[in-house]
This record gives sequence, structure tokens and C-alpha cells, in this order.
Amino acid sequence: MERTFCMIKPDGVRRGLVAEILSRFEKKGFRIVAMKLMRIDRELAETHYAEHREKPFFEPLVNFITSGPVVAMVLEGPGVIAELRKMMGATNPADALPGTIRGDLATSIDENVVHGSANAEDAEREIALFFKAEEFVA
Ligand code: RTP
Ligand code: MG
Repeated sequence: MERTFCMIKPDGVRRGLVAEILSRFEKKGFRIVAMKLMRIDRELAETHYAEHREKPFFEPLVNFITSGPVVAMVLEGPGVIAELRKMMGATNPADALPGTIRGDLATSIDENVVHGSANAEDAEREIALFFKAEEFVA
């Protein structure tokens, strides 16, 4: 069974969108196999977003993702990696379709409410970065 890493970003938590977003995942049929409310420190943020280290938006991105608590989780289901990305919508909310999380709930590319692993390799790396084995349900 496929697993992916998902995070409700600080803007989503601040704006009270946690239940709305989790509700969409539950209704879709994803199984939540691990979940926690946490603060991301600078080191974890820089490792998580290492692929963007050279980009002009890296510094603001790290500042934003460490600016408040996030809800980190591991979702399980058939094809969940691609399904989650579809449900999230485009990175820039201006391009995200209505019905997607970003299309319905986000207004800015810098604060776009959710993160989801881009592919199987990232999913494996990000799950291991955020969760220990004992944090998963049986
Ligand atoms: P995420 O990793 O957060 O799930 O978002 P994503 O895959 O849809 O987008 P990605 O390319 O991985 O970019 C990570 C985050 O960096 C910010 N970004 N800003 N100004 C820009 O051109 C730009 N491009 C990306 C976004 O906040 C994006 O979510
Ligand atoms: Mg990404």
C-alpha cells in the first residue's frame, strides 16, 4: 500500500483550516497512519526543502514554514502520492482549480496551505525525516 507525507502549513493551522483539510482526506478514503502537531526548526526546514536551496524563494520559504505549528501526517491509500497532489492543486493558487485545497482555500504562492510529497522517492525521504517507526499506528 502506498504512503505519502503531507503537512498542513503554518497558514493553514493559523487560519483554522485543519479540520476542513483533514475532513477532505477522510472523505476521500485516505488512511491517516501517523499525525502530529509540531514546530519545524530551521535545520529540519532546510533539509526538507533542500532541493530549493539555490532558489530566490528559499529563505522566505524556510522563514514561513518555521513561523508557527504545522500538522504533519502520513497518508496511506492506493495511488495516494498522485491523488494527494491532485487534491492539493497547483503550487500557485492563482492556477489551482476550484475544488482543490489550494484552489478553494489559498490565495498566495508563498502561503499555500498544504504540502504533499511530489513523488515516491520524496515520500520515502520525507516520511523518514518527520516520523519514527513508533509514531505509526499498527
Ligand atoms: P510544496 O513542496 O510546499 O508542497 O509545494 P510544491 O511541491 O507545490 O512546490 P515546490 O516547487 O516544491 O515549491 C515549494 C514551495 O516554495 C514556494 N515557491 N515559491 N515564488 C516562486 O516562484 C515559488 N515557487 C515555489 C511555494 O510556497 C511552494 O509551495
Ligand atoms: Mg514540493
